[in-house]
Formats: sequence, C-alpha cells, structure tokens
Amino acid sequence: MSRKVSGYLISPEALHERVKELAEEIRRDYTGRSPVFVGVLKGSFIFLADLVRHLGDLDVRIDFLAVSSYGMATESSGEVQILKDVTIPVEGEDVLLVEDIVDTGLTLKYLWDLFQQRHPRSLRICVLLDKKERRVVEVPVHYVGFEIPDRFVVGYGLDWAERYRHLPGIAFVEEEE
Ligand code: IMP
Repeated sequence: MSRKVSGYLISPEALHERVKELAEEIRRDYTGRSPVFVGVLKGSFIFLADLVRHLGDLDVRIDFLAVSSYGMATESSGEVQILKDVTIPVEGEDVLLVEDIVDTGLTLKYLWDLFQQRHPRSLRICVLLDKKERRVVEVPVHYVGFEIPDRFVVGYGLDWAERYRHLPGIAFVEEEE
C-alpha cells in the first residue's frame, strides 16, 4: 500500500484570500488589545506565519506549544501530551489558540481546558480547517477558515507521517494498492 496526493482541495490562492479575511476579522476584534497568539505545532506553522503578516499594527505577541501527534496513524487516540509549553505567561492575557485543523475536537478541548485553568483575560480558538462531521467533543471555535469533508488532508503545514507539510495548498491524500 502506498499513498498518493491528488489535486488541491484548497488552492494556494484561495488559502491566501481566506487567511487575509480571517486576519482582518481578528484584527478588528482585538483592536486596542495586546493578544498572545499561541500556535499549536507543528501543523499551524504556515497558517500562523501567514495570518500574523496581515495584522498590521495590532500589538500581537506570538508563542508556540507542541502537542503529540498521531504518529503514523490517521486517527486521534484522544490522548494529548504537551511536548513543549508556551513561555509567555498567559494569566490575564487575551489568548488566541491557532490550530491547523479541528477533527474530533479532542486536542483543542484538552488545550481549551488547560488554558482556562491558567486564567487568561479571554480565550478564543482559530482553526484553518474544520471537519465538522467528525466532532466527538464540543469545543468553542471562534474563527474557521474552511469547513472540509471527512477526508484526510495534507499541505500548508498539515502532514501525513511528517510528509507533505510543504505543499502550498491543501490536498487529499489517498491510499493506493
Ligand atoms: P482532533 O484532536 O481529532 O481534533 O485532531 C486534531 C489534530 O489531528 C490536528 O492538530 C492534526 O494534527 C491532526 N489531524 C486531524 N485531521 C487531519 C488531517 O486530515 N490531516 C492531517 N492532520 C490531521
């Protein structure tokens, strides 16, 4: 069995346009604030990098955390491990978690609860992709780039077994005999 990446579900141009729109919405919502954007590694690295470049004069601080991934599997185990935590103290801050995709919701639910316990001034979630029909737990997602069908996707930061993150668009990955 091998894997094949087919044509783009979301083109680089469509990503660029939507990310710009999201950034404008976020910029308006956080006007007068100094938010802390927390990128969830590794999948959000391109999305976050593109997003923050459209924030103009917003006084944003940027941090990262890393959580355990699926490894070689394409299903979430439901167990989330923090591999690297943020270094900016988030108590009293306006925190925006930035994630590549919400699937079952287990990862973001875990992070939501963890960050709430740290008493931020506000907490919101921004995801590039939402596989809504796969949701197992409720999680409040405030900003969504695109809703996508229940298929495994790669590119623009998202991987399959650490591969394909570099693709400039979002593509389906399929198994081949
Ligand atoms: P959840 O905990 O099931 O919501 O899964 C969230 C994490 O699973 C994301 O941060 C991704 O790392 C990974 N993931 C879920 N679906 C996909 C996909 O289609 N492609 C690549 N990674 C995915």
